[in-house]
Amino acid sequence: MVRIRPWGATALAALSISRHAAAFNNPQSMPVWCGKIYKKDYPANDPGGQFQFPPPKVEPLLYLTIQPRYTIFLESDESSSFIVNAPISHIFGKSYKNGSYDSPGSSKKNLFATLDFEIYSEESGHLLKTSSVPVNSTGNVVGFSLSSFKPRFKPYAVSINGTPPDAQQSFTAKTLIYVLPSRSYGSAVKIDNLYGGLYVQNGFNNWKGWYAIFPNGGYADGGYVSPSNISFTHLDTYASQGFNTINIPPDGSLPDQSYPVAEFEKYWDNMDQLNLFNLYDMRSAFQNETRINEQVALWKNRTTLLSWYTADEPDGWEYNLNSTKLAYDQIKGLDPYHPVSLVLNCQNFYYEEYSAGADIVFEDAYPISINATYSIPWGIPCNATYGDCGCDNCVGELTDVSTRLDDFQNYQANLKGQGSKPTWAVIQAFGDQDYWTSIPSVAEVENMMMLAVNHNAKGLSYWLYPSTADINLGSGQLGKVFQKEPGIDFLFGTNAIKGLPVAGEALIDASAWIVGKKMMVGVASGPLVNSSAEVSITLPASASSVDQVLYGDSGWTVTGNTLSKAGIKGLEVGIVVLNLS
Ligand SMILES: *[C@@H]1O[C@H](CO)[C@@H](O)[C@H](O)[C@H]1NC(C)=O
Ligand SMILES: *[C@@H]1O[C@H](CO)[C@@H](O)[C@H](O)[C@H]1NC(C)=O
Ligand SMILES: *[C@@H]1O[C@H](CO)[C@@H](O)[C@H](O)[C@H]1NC(C)=O
Ligand SMILES: *[C@@H]1O[C@H](CO)[C@@H](O)[C@H](O)[C@H]1NC(C)=O
Ligand SMILES: *[C@@H]1O[C@H](CO)[C@@H](O)[C@H](O)[C@H]1NC(C)=O
Ligand SMILES: *[C@@H]1O[C@H](CO)[C@@H](O)[C@H](O)[C@H]1NC(C)=O
Ligand SMILES: *[C@@H]1O[C@H](CO)[C@@H](O)[C@H](O)[C@H]1NC(C)=O
Ligand SMILES: *[C@@H]1O[C@H](CO)[C@@H](O)[C@H](O)[C@H]1NC(C)=O
Ligand SMILES: *[C@@H]1O[C@H](CO)[C@@H](O)[C@H](O)[C@H]1NC(C)=O
Repeated sequence: MVRIRPWGATALAALSISRHAAAFNNPQSMPVWCGKIYKKDYPANDPGGQFQFPPPKVEPLLYLTIQPRYTIFLESDESSSFIVNAPISHIFGKSYKNGSYDSPGSSKKNLFATLDFEIYSEESGHLLKTSSVPVNSTGNVVGFSLSSFKPRFKPYAVSINGTPPDAQQSFTAKTLIYVLPSRSYGSAVKIDNLYGGLYVQNGFNNWKGWYAIFPNGGYADGGYVSPSNISFTHLDTYASQGFNTINIPPDGSLPDQSYPVAEFEKYWDNMDQLNLFNLYDMRSAFQNETRINEQVALWKNRTTLLSWYTADEPDGWEYNLNSTKLAYDQIKGLDPYHPVSLVLNCQNFYYEEYSAGADIVFEDAYPISINATYSIPWGIPCNATYGDCGCDNCVGELTDVSTRLDDFQNYQANLKGQGSKPTWAVIQAFGDQDYWTSIPSVAEVENMMMLAVNHNAKGLSYWLYPSTADINLGSGQLGKVFQKEPGIDFLFGTNAIKGLPVAGEALIDASAWIVGKKMMVGVASGPLVNSSAEVSITLPASASSVDQVLYGDSGWTVTGNTLSKAGIKGLEVGIVVLNLS
């Protein structure tokens, strides 16, 4: 979302509001964005809300966690599993003894190398699984049978108890699992808690099993794709450009903020025909319980409903810190079949509180043609405690996108007892307004897409469709590489190995995905100008040959663990699949 932050004539009067009434250092009654004052005549003041990284401990800890492999299971699922992690951590977990002696005075020590465990349903007491994992391992996938669970809308509590073989110590953890009635209408959408991919069943596959969707689609101007005189031309064109998802902000974000229902039904019927998935936007309804009830009841049976989208930049607007979680809990009670998503705009402002209301967290750092240190519309400096430059705490480079994804993933990894959440990127496809002096080129957009995917974005969006003809086409075309095989098999089959070492050109970002006997490599070159230098990327494994080039220049060659090419164009993007040796 973009706009000049609203700032009315009531500002000065509002300043007299008691400061301690709000949780924020700089309350919403002041001209704030991301908690920082953005207008002159007000002093800089620490916004607060920065993520508090837990201090590392000297002592090693065993951090046992359990999660369902997927956010939901259906009674019709043929297999089901948990993810069990037992890393040695210096942040979270319980202290442990590395084994024990057979008897007092004995010199034979049994080291603590494996953790035996039992997994139980808390409600019925049923034993679901007995097994073991190596100590200091993560991502162990442990199968279990759903037969102990009667399908229902409410989740079941599950616990794990782990001990070393000598049973002298014990470790426990808990999780919740959904086992839902199967579907024969609407859609069910699950997230893979291990690799972040999205899987759907709906009318398109007659509710038979799950298929993967790598979401690639924009926020779209409703007046353009869904005009009130009903014409499917623009929506059809949009789908034919390769986009598989859409988010239509209601009413062009005008104050009323509701869709004209009868009209919107016709468009949604068309989306069903196209199997074009909707992220249903409740940006202005999600803070009102009645409206959530009404809107979820209206649309929850749609076969192309992908996700409920609640807060649009709640951290920028300083919505109540509990607002996203309250909406989340309410929506889950009404419709547990779909994930809840939202976008955060700030780099480091109450991440924990706002992200608590989401299964999927989007970032929307828009770095193109900003002045990162001086606010163009407001005429004041921007820094960690002051000003709004259109991209919070950014440096004004394409890599602001990948840095922001890294930041969010890092915060999430440092929240106790929580697993990872998929991060998606909203790519800048607008400009020539407010903080942004020009519209990105299609090369910049594609570069930001690649940077995002290289940094584990598991879905892409754009603000705003329609953009330039070049961007509309380019973002659709590159997006198709991520949506179909073999690209999606890598993106949803593992996580990226980020930041591969690059020689020849410093400003190249490269990541690798290894699945089976193949490796995909994604390359995004930073400089604007063409270079004739020999570029070489050090791979995390040895490869024997180039299998196929999925996107970009075909000049890549591989020798052992080096992928190289003579010369690289300004902002070049490349995606290559290699055969491992
Ligand atoms: C236990 O000690 C052995 C031998 O020193 C070591 O290799 C291993 O990493 C230790 N395990 C743990 C869980 O600390
Ligand atoms: C646990 O594994 C990490 C890497 O996966 C390794 O760096 C660390 O030394 C291991 N710790 C122990 C105690 O084995
Ligand atoms: C809908 O209205 C727009 C402009 O108001 C016009 O350009 C378009 O032709 C109309 N479409 C139909 C199907 O009437
Ligand atoms: C919530 O929405 C309902 C239904 O649109 C409306 O009647 C009510 O006034 C709203 N409440 C608030 C506090 O805005
Ligand atoms: C959605 O499906 C449920 C279950 O069949 C039904 O009770 C409800 O009326 C349906 N809602 C709509 C809006 O079709
Ligand atoms: C949510 O937070 C607001 C503002 O702090 C508070 O007034 C409200 O009571 C809270 N709501 C709930 C249900 O906790
Ligand atoms: C940002 O604005 C300041 C103040 O006008 C100016 O000195 C600086 O050169 C600008 N930086 C960029 C990157 O445009
Ligand atoms: C940010 O800029 C303002 C205005 O120049 C200044 O008062 C404040 O100290 C700066 N904050 C930081 C963290 O540098
Ligand atoms: C880079 O090379 C391409 C052809 O490979 C050319 O079209 C483009 O103009 C060059 N860009 C610059 C900035 O020289």
